[in-house]
Amino acid sequence: MGESYQNTEPKIDLPIEDDHYSEHLASVNEDNSVVATEDICNGHGAILVKKGGRISAAVSGRILKHKLLKPIEDQVKLERQLDSTNLSDHARALFAKYPDLGTIHEALNSDPFWQSIIKEYQLPAILWQKLTVMQHQIPQDYEKSIFCAWLSVVVGREMKLRDDEIESLYVAGLTHDIGLLHIDPAIINKKGPLAATEWRAIQSHVLVGKLMVENIRGVKPSVAQAILDHHERCDGTGYPSQKAERNLHTLGLIIGITDSLQAIRVKQFAPVGRNMMDALPYLSMNAHTYSYPVYQAMHNILRRSGLKPTTVKLGKEGGAFLGEIITRAEKLKLIMPQLGKVQEILQEMAHTMRGKDLLRALERVDSMVDSSGLLKEELLSWLRTIDGTPDLSVMGELVEMDLMLNELKWQLSNLLHAFNRFCEQDDVVGEDSCDAVKAVTATLLANMP
Ligand SMILES: [Fe+2]
Repeated sequence: MGESYQNTEPKIDLPIEDDHYSEHLASVNEDNSVVATEDICNGHGAILVKKGGRISAAVSGRILKHKLLKPIEDQVKLERQLDSTNLSDHARALFAKYPDLGTIHEALNSDPFWQSIIKEYQLPAILWQKLTVMQHQIPQDYEKSIFCAWLSVVVGREMKLRDDEIESLYVAGLTHDIGLLHIDPAIINKKGPLAATEWRAIQSHVLVGKLMVENIRGVKPSVAQAILDHHERCDGTGYPSQKAERNLHTLGLIIGITDSLQAIRVKQFAPVGRNMMDALPYLSMNAHTYSYPVYQAMHNILRRSGLKPTTVKLGKEGGAFLGEIITRAEKLKLIMPQLGKVQEILQEMAHTMRGKDLLRALERVDSMVDSSGLLKEELLSWLRTIDGTPDLSVMGELVEMDLMLNELKWQLSNLLHAFNRFCEQDDVVGEDSCDAVKAVTATLLANMP
């Protein structure tokens, strides 16, 4: 795996001129005064806010219309800012809210190390400011930051990384989504499907976050790189640059796996009372997505935690759940042979490194489906014979299938989007095969369950 932090030039546009951070500051100012520490001027030197003035909604509206001489975050002070004691308390609250995390923390005896890193690492004041704003404005993302910082540190220790690398994991975990604070809140908070431009704006959070952090004195370049790479995947299906494993460093991959596990734990598992141990099927389907050593460390942590998978009780809804699983599996089963067509076309086009990476990613998804047995006709036929509400043992299998089908759908969608992006690259544009690939991927994306 590449050890250099210098090799990356992302391919997405940065909407930095459209910085929305002052809107968040104005909202924070309603409960916790945000005051200018110096005259805030526009690019021509005209004063927009005098030293000592508060960042109200009206002031923020004025600021938004101008390009500032200096970033606003360097020219304001919050009356109250989070500190290491608050962070330690909020981590304890997280373990109480999700007791399986507390179990992992205790079983691995992580507390002394975790507490010492919180106390000893001097997080720059500007990052405490951003975390304070994040907690106020997007509390679910603040909770995610603590989850990722904590679990990344645990993974780093399991992998026996150096202390300075573990320290970088801590900072990158806390700040990996800090770029979200600079993107239009209307897009961040939008419910329902996103337009392509909105999706691109959200994706830019990795680049915005990297740029913010790399300009802060005392923060290591490895932190900025991990922030930039936390949505990249080893098979080249991530963003912003679709880097392959050889160009990715372990730290970004660790933040990536903890970020994904957080989403599964909080969005998929919490409503049905499942715990981190139930994420094992997800992990085995992603043994190479975040690199094998990272997967192995995460797997070991769960195994050593002593947690047990959950027994699922679905009651009367069990019958409907079974029907839904069968329908989704059948739809995905129809899609798989079509991927063979794309594979044939890609084989002719794959004279570039990227094309070869995509072919490998396709083969990996194919063999993963095969080895999981998820879409095997025998399994589906057996499920179709179940009448009424499935019993408990079957229900356990169904819940596992549900997680695996979600993951397979996600991986297939990423792959299909990656094919499309590949076909839009300069060195392959114009090849007739591109039209064929695009036609097949469009149909498959439209038929995704
Ligand atoms: Fe992110």
